[in-house]
Amino acid sequence: MKKKVLVTRAVFDETLAYLAQHFDITSNQADQKYSPAELAARLQGMEAALISSTDRVDDSLLSRCPGLKAVCSFSVGYNHIDLAACSGHGVMATNTPGVLTDSVADFAVCLALATCRRLTESEAMLRRGEWKGTHLKELLGVDLHHATVGICGLGRIGQVIARRLRGFEPRILYCTRGRLTPDLERELEVAFAPKDELLRRSDIVILILPYTHETHHYIGARELGLMKRSAVLINVARGGVVDDVALIEALNAGRIRAAGLDVYENEPNLNPALLGLKNVVLSPHIASASEPTRQAMAMTAARNCVAALTTGDPPNLLNPEVLRQKA
Ligand code: NAP
Ligand code: 8YV
Repeated sequence: MKKKVLVTRAVFDETLAYLAQHFDITSNQADQKYSPAELAARLQGMEAALISSTDRVDDSLLSRCPGLKAVCSFSVGYNHIDLAACSGHGVMATNTPGVLTDSVADFAVCLALATCRRLTESEAMLRRGEWKGTHLKELLGVDLHHATVGICGLGRIGQVIARRLRGFEPRILYCTRGRLTPDLERELEVAFAPKDELLRRSDIVILILPYTHETHHYIGARELGLMKRSAVLINVARGGVVDDVALIEALNAGRIRAAGLDVYENEPNLNPALLGLKNVVLSPHIASASEPTRQAMAMTAARNCVAALTTGDPPNLLNPEVLRQKA
C-alpha cells in the first residue's frame, strides 16, 4: 500500500505525476484555500503534506493529525510553520531555498523601478483616456541609477538583488544581524550600516528578510520617520515586516515618497486604504511567480516529501532536531 500524501493547493501535472510514482495522492486542484478545520480533516490518514505559505501549521493542527510525518512547503519563507511544534510532534518540515532566488531578485528590481518611475499610476491614467500629450513636468519620478539603495536582509535573495543592481551604479548599504565577510562585501560592493543609519541615508529601501518575532513591524512609524521624505520603500519580504497602517499614514502625509509592495498584513485582505493611494505600486505576492521558478519550487517540495518518507532525511529540512529525537 502506498503512503498517503495531501497536496493542499493546485500544483503542476509534472509534480503530481512524480509524487504519484511514490504515493497515493490527494490534491486540491480546485485551489480553494482550506480553513484550519478543513485542513485538519483532510490530513486524516495522510503521512505527509505539500503545503503553501497560506497553510498554517501549528500545535493545534498537529495535535489533530497524529499520523503526519512531514510538511513540505513550496516556499522559502516558513513563518507559517511552527517549527518547535513540528519537532514536538516528530514532524519534519521543509522549504524550497535557492530555486526562487533569481526570480525574486528580478522582481524586487522590477518593483523598485516601477515604483520609482510611477509605472502603474501612469498606465492607469493612460487607460482612463486622461493622457493629453507629453508634459515636461508631468509624472516625474526618481532615479534608480546612482541612488543609495539600502537592502534589509542580505541573504540568498538580498545578495542577488545587490548583484542585479550593479548596472545602475548605486551605492548599496545593507543591514543584517550578522556581517558578511569583508571579501563578500567587497565582491558585492556593499557596505554595512546599522538599521537606523541605513534608513536615514537610503533613497530606496528594499526589505527582503524573514518574518519572525524580531522582524514584526521592522518598519513602523518610528522607522518611516527616519527615512528621507523623498525615499521609496519596497517590500518583497513578508506581510507583517511593515506596519501597513503606519505606512499608509506616512504615504498620505508625504512622510516618504512612495512604496512598492508585494506582500501585506492579513493578505489577501489587504488594508483597503492602500488601494486609494496613488503613490504605491501593488502586486499580489508574485515575486517568485515565473513559470519555471514555480515549477522548480513545486518539484523541490515534492522531492523533499519523497526523501522525508523514504530516507527520512530530506535535503531542505528546517528542524533537524526532529532526526536526533528519532535516533
Ligand atoms: P535567507 O537567505 O535566509 O536571508 C535572510 C536574510 O535576512 C539574511 O541576510 C539574514 O541575516 C537577514 N535577517 C534575518 N533576520 C534579521 C533581522 N532580525 N534583522 C535584520 N536582518 C535579518 O532568506 P532568503 O532566501 O533571502 O529569503 C528571505 C525572505 O524573503 C523569506 O524568508 C521570505 O519571507 C521572503 N520571500 C518573499 C517572496 C515573495 O514572494 N514576495 C519570495 C521569496 C522569499 P542575519 O541572519 O545575519 O540577520
Ligand atoms: C511563494 C514566498 O510563492 O517562497 C516564499 O517564501 O513567499 C513565495 O515564493 C508563496 O509563499 C507560495 O507558497
